[in-house]
Amino acid sequence: MGINAVEQYLRELKLTTAADDLGEVIHSSGDNINLEWITSLLEREVDARKERKLMSRIKRSKIPEVKSLEQFNWKFNPSINRSRIEDVADLKFVRDNGIVLFLGQPGTGKSHLASAIGLKAVYSGMTVYWTSLKRLSEDIIKAKAKNELSILFKKILSSNLWILDDWGVVSLSREVSEEVFDLLDRRQYSTAMILTSNRDIGEWPEVFVDPVLASAAIDRIFDRASVTIFSGKSYRAAGTKKEDVLNREEVIR
Ligand SMILES: Nc1ncnc2c1ncn2[C@@H]1O[C@H](COP(=O)(O)OP(=O)(O)OP(=O)(O)O)[C@@H](O)[C@H]1O
Ligand SMILES: [Mg+2]
Repeated sequence: MGINAVEQYLRELKLTTAADDLGEVIHSSGDNINLEWITSLLEREVDARKERKLMSRIKRSKIPEVKSLEQFNWKFNPSINRSRIEDVADLKFVRDNGIVLFLGQPGTGKSHLASAIGLKAVYSGMTVYWTSLKRLSEDIIKAKAKNELSILFKKILSSNLWILDDWGVVSLSREVSEEVFDLLDRRQYSTAMILTSNRDIGEWPEVFVDPVLASAAIDRIFDRASVTIFSGKSYRAAGTKKEDVLNREEVIR
């Protein structure tokens, strides 16, 4: 541990004058000065700040449940394409503002994997914003009433990854549809997206009152999207059959 490590920590902590003058100060105090204690002190400060930033990114992401890829039992619904999900989890699509769609049967793990990937993104330094379509609709109505729609939009569009869970469960009013369309249109320049839905694509236009808006929005959702289909049994309902219990126990063990 030497002067370089101390200088690097000082720069990381944005103590630029201290970093610039370090060499000179050490020289004037006699070059044999022991730097070990100051290195570990600064290291603690850097680590503590990183931890605080991470905690604040986790909180701001509003990811509802802590789930991980390791908790996912791939044997339970073997038709789920593991290697595609692992590709998504390498987060390259986030850097490209890409779209990932997790579509299919209820209870098959779409939200689980979306939160696991969202958390992985947060841990790797990215910002994530999670919302269900229902909550988004409520948030838009509330924000409009308070004249704060641009704040809500900024939260979503300034994050690296927007997770839009449960697409298709609610029908949006015309006012809200237009705002959701605007978000879907603008996000391509700034924000990657994971969208989950258990609704048949044929039912998606029902989310919007206006069919023209519906088809323009659906077009944007499928724009160069990577689609993973989730088929199989609901993990929620599992437990009644012996083989399901055994499959679940593998995860718990
Ligand atoms: N293969 C699996 N291994 C471990 N846990 C699973 C698996 N599939 C689902 N689960 C768990 O089952 C519950 C339901 O899964 P999840 O909410 O991800 O389903 P979903 O596909 O999003 O369903 P919906 O379409 O109803 O929203 C969660 O607690 C999730 O952690
Ligand atoms: Mg879900």
